[in-house]
Amino acid sequence: MNSKIPKLPPGPKPWPIVGNLPEMLAHNSPTRWIHKVMEELNTEIACIRLGNVHVIPVTCPTIAREFLRKHDADFASRPISMASNVISNGYLTSVLVPYGEQWKKMKKIIVNDLLSPYRHQWLRAKRNEEADNLMFYVYNKCNNGGLVNVRNVTQHYCGNVFRKLFFNTRYFGNGMKDGGPGLEEVEHVDASFVLLNHIYAFSTSDYIPWLRLLDLDGHKGNVKNALRIMNKYHDSIIDERIKRWNNGSKNVEEDLLDVLISLKDVNNNPLLTTKEIKAQAIELMMAMVDNPSNVVEWTLVEMLNQPELFQKATEELDNIVGKDRIVEESDIPKLNFLKACAREALRLHPITAFNVPHVSMNDTMVGNYFIPKGSHILLGRSGLGRNPKVWSEPYKFKPERHLKNDGSKITLTEPNLKFISFSTGRRGCPAVTLGTTMTIILLARLLHGFTWSTPSNISRINCAESNGVMVLDEPLTVVAKPRLAAKLYNF
Ligand code: HEM
Repeated sequence: MNSKIPKLPPGPKPWPIVGNLPEMLAHNSPTRWIHKVMEELNTEIACIRLGNVHVIPVTCPTIAREFLRKHDADFASRPISMASNVISNGYLTSVLVPYGEQWKKMKKIIVNDLLSPYRHQWLRAKRNEEADNLMFYVYNKCNNGGLVNVRNVTQHYCGNVFRKLFFNTRYFGNGMKDGGPGLEEVEHVDASFVLLNHIYAFSTSDYIPWLRLLDLDGHKGNVKNALRIMNKYHDSIIDERIKRWNNGSKNVEEDLLDVLISLKDVNNNPLLTTKEIKAQAIELMMAMVDNPSNVVEWTLVEMLNQPELFQKATEELDNIVGKDRIVEESDIPKLNFLKACAREALRLHPITAFNVPHVSMNDTMVGNYFIPKGSHILLGRSGLGRNPKVWSEPYKFKPERHLKNDGSKITLTEPNLKFISFSTGRRGCPAVTLGTTMTIILLARLLHGFTWSTPSNISRINCAESNGVMVLDEPLTVVAKPRLAAKLYNF
């Protein structure tokens, strides 16, 4: 009779009340501990009890597809956590919000009003300004010794794109003459990474609710502090802009903030409250900075360790673009090798070990296992992308593995979940076009515009990953030299 009771996926035996939290906390990296547990149990789906929550990590694409394709409707919610609650101001936004009317409202706005094909064209000139500023900034670094902190460059390009598209400005303060970030922009980007880190941190009090008031691990303090910084920059611009629309001194939409303010409901009242606009701005900043910057930093690392990849990528760029002009968005469809490199970086070096968690809204059977309502599903970004049953030589950076014999176009999407880039299903990323454009233009401009080499005292870049978000442990700092005529950098 017992054999008929549906089984949970395999996992370590939980303690009463705390579940497996003690083992997890004894390890300095929760994500590495989860992967170790799965390896020891030789399983591609596990059940780990954190407090009374069933946490289900998955590293098998077939099972991942069962979650996000076959049973997508059952797994379309998100966890309630301190960080997601505080950052989304009580779940007013899209990425972090459990399934329901508010998520539907915000996701619809993002898809139809902020990221539609029409809007993408409308914002092209603003993206171009930031891609040109990128060239100008790195060129100035070349003239100033040539040592470039690539992370600084990639993260600030993404921050600049967000500020330009959303607030129609690159700088919150006076900025820097060389095109680099000022103090304000550094604070802004740093604060968004603090927030991102806490979204993916396993905070004890999220699993033991009565610990919430104590903030034992200090996460709440960190999140509130980072939010204070974000709000310091965003709030006055948003308040002032709403005032100008209300008093009639502004009536033409110039950026995404104007678009959000101008949306109307069926009674011609503002569709969004000020609180919703402010919370959504913070979440969009977070969504825009992490993936593209990380993909490009890792691609350069791998190319520095395998210089033949540099050669292939620059050959492609020189064939398609030439050396008399700079690479433009319209070149992206033809840059197949470059896209294969970015795909490979997404596979091997995702910014986070796990996808944004999904929560089950019903008891469901997946892969012959019982997944109770309320479980947190963690599709492994690194676990899927490095699964040796799916990928040969999984730890080798081999962009060629993505090239097709028929030469057909490469994209960064992977709806079959053999690795996770934009994911799929109801909670899939709505920004495939913008995300791809930002990533490929950033990579293409850095490779077409400059040669990159390690400083003379370093022979090979150390590929160690940081604890937490999986960026390179130490920011990549290398030597850049211009490879195009000087006039092409002076915007
Ligand atoms: C290379 C760039 C990007 C990658 C790889 C990426 C990846 C992802 C992933 C993996 C998710 C979670 C999907 C899931 O839960 O299954 C996600 C969600 C999301 N992303 Fe992106 N993203 C990128 C760029 C962007 C940009 C530029 C924006 C906004 C302008 C954006 C907006 C969102 C939003 C709003 C969601 C939440 C969807 C939902 O919960 O319904 N992403 N993204």
